[in-house]
Amino acid sequence: MEVITVTDYNEMSIQAAEYIISKVRSSNSINLGLATGGTPLGLYKYMVLDFQKNTTDYRHVISFNLDEYVGLSEVYPNSYHYYMKENLFNHINILDSNVHLPNGNGASLQKECALYDKLIKECGGIDVQVLGIGQNGHIGFNEPGTSFGTKTHVVKLTESTRQANKHNFDNLDEVPTHAITMGIQSIMNSREILLLASGTEKSTAIYKLLQGDLNEQFPASVLQLHPNVTIIVDEQSLSSGISI
Ligand code: PGA
Repeated sequence: MEVITVTDYNEMSIQAAEYIISKVRSSNSINLGLATGGTPLGLYKYMVLDFQKNTTDYRHVISFNLDEYVGLSEVYPNSYHYYMKENLFNHINILDSNVHLPNGNGASLQKECALYDKLIKECGGIDVQVLGIGQNGHIGFNEPGTSFGTKTHVVKLTESTRQANKHNFDNLDEVPTHAITMGIQSIMNSREILLLASGTEKSTAIYKLLQGDLNEQFPASVLQLHPNVTIIVDEQSLSSGISI
């Protein structure tokens, strides 16, 4: 794993944006795996600013998001469909037809999961997957204990994840109980992974990712097995005494 250390969240976001933008600019066709949550907001902000300034072209980009809640309408502000439109897709020239998120409203969620993996494969796989990391080591909605062999699947959200995401909703009862997430195997199939982390609350997770054991109780540890992972972290998220 290549670790790039930066001073703070803003610098992490700038470096991540430069990383993604250079990939987009230097390819004729690229499949990006995208994430939601607080961490990539700065990345998306700088991608949008770059688009406005430098007109980086996204018409050849196909995107696949990691996850989506079950049972939230796509137009509901807390859905990840809405988040992605609001924070990125509405502000760059990516084609609507090239944008993909799991469908948490399908009649058969199992079918939706299988279709998602099939679609990723048919499009040639993901070139660069952007990831955040949960304090408990989750990637996507793959919580501790998830088998490293999982494909896209439905998950029952843990109470701690529902609590962590509660701030976006009026109250805990409104936080969905289930989500669809790309599985750990689906994530590992990406040719490259770019993981971002910022803040002291992520320091234990980053410590375990870099220096802990491979363990399904800490899902992100699977990345130790991936041949092409870049991690951009700020100094606060390295504050657990990691030596790199
Ligand atoms: P965050 O979430 O970016 O909101 O901290 C990261 C994650 O849970 O994967």
